[in-house]
Amino acid sequence: MSNPFDLDGRVIVVTGAMGQLGREFCRELAGRGARVAALDRAAGEAASRAAIDPGAGRLLEVQADVTSRESLDAALRRIAADLGVPHGLVNAAALDSPPGAPAEENGPLETYPERAWDRVMDVNLKGTLLCGQVFGGAMAEAGRGAIVNISSTYGVVSPDQRLYDYRREAGAPFFKPIAYSASKSALLNVTRYMATYWAPRNVRVNTVTFGGVFNGQDERFLAGYAARVPLGRMARPDEYNGAIVFLLSDASSYMTGSNLVIDGGWTAW
Ligand SMILES: NC(=O)c1ccc[n+]([C@@H]2O[C@H](COP(=O)([O-])OP(=O)(O)OC[C@H]3O[C@@H](n4cnc5c(N)ncnc54)[C@H](O)[C@@H]3O)[C@@H](O)[C@H]2O)c1
Repeated sequence: MSNPFDLDGRVIVVTGAMGQLGREFCRELAGRGARVAALDRAAGEAASRAAIDPGAGRLLEVQADVTSRESLDAALRRIAADLGVPHGLVNAAALDSPPGAPAEENGPLETYPERAWDRVMDVNLKGTLLCGQVFGGAMAEAGRGAIVNISSTYGVVSPDQRLYDYRREAGAPFFKPIAYSASKSALLNVTRYMATYWAPRNVRVNTVTFGGVFNGQDERFLAGYAARVPLGRMARPDEYNGAIVFLLSDASSYMTGSNLVIDGGWTAW
């Protein structure tokens, strides 16, 4: 009997491949026999390569900028020539402002800099459009494919700014910025738009909404976060792999335009 989760031989593009989660996805997908194009602006750095390469020789590193159509067109040409026309795309490239980010990007709403807004929107939102146009377009032409866009709990509900009180009390004017939330909620409808647009071409498009991932954050942040989540902790970096495999594979063949929320229950409270 065939396994509906099988990804053996499928060509999958992962953007933001050198990031905390992108690396996990690359390793997991390559380990399942997929031919992975690990695309990142920072691709080519030796440390990043060691982190993502499972040693199976199934991983093609592609240096590209998701905010540039030209760069993505070149990436597609290379991926198609080396691995084949993509069957899947995971849009994981993004700009975030973690609790340790510089203060000028995380100030009060009233003075949040336009250039910070533009930078975040460019990568998180326009980057998703351009990757959809280039890789989604190629999949539509081939008559099959699956796209996964990555949102955040902060794209579904507002950030809880109380979690960052400890930084403000220490004199840093930290607020989780509006651009991250706005870009991540826009992805929910980008997904629906692309899903309905490409349904006749058999390209499925879904969102995954993730809660925060443990990454050595400040103890005060971790305590506040844990208290805010029914499961009482942040996610481990490998806890989203199952959803990515599910949404890329035939196991989700009747699913498109949806939002799969995996957040330890954050949005249930
Ligand atoms: N880590 C979390 O806690 C968390 C929680 C919810 C949602 N998410 C989402 O999951 C996805 C992956 O998150 P992560 O933690 O791995 O992020 P990360 O910051 O660790 O990695 C992002 C990667 O994107 C790349 N990138 C940035 N701009 C780019 C560009 N213009 N072109 C190409 N690559 C570019 C960076 O080089 C980096 O390797 C993001 O969409 C993020 O918003 C993460």
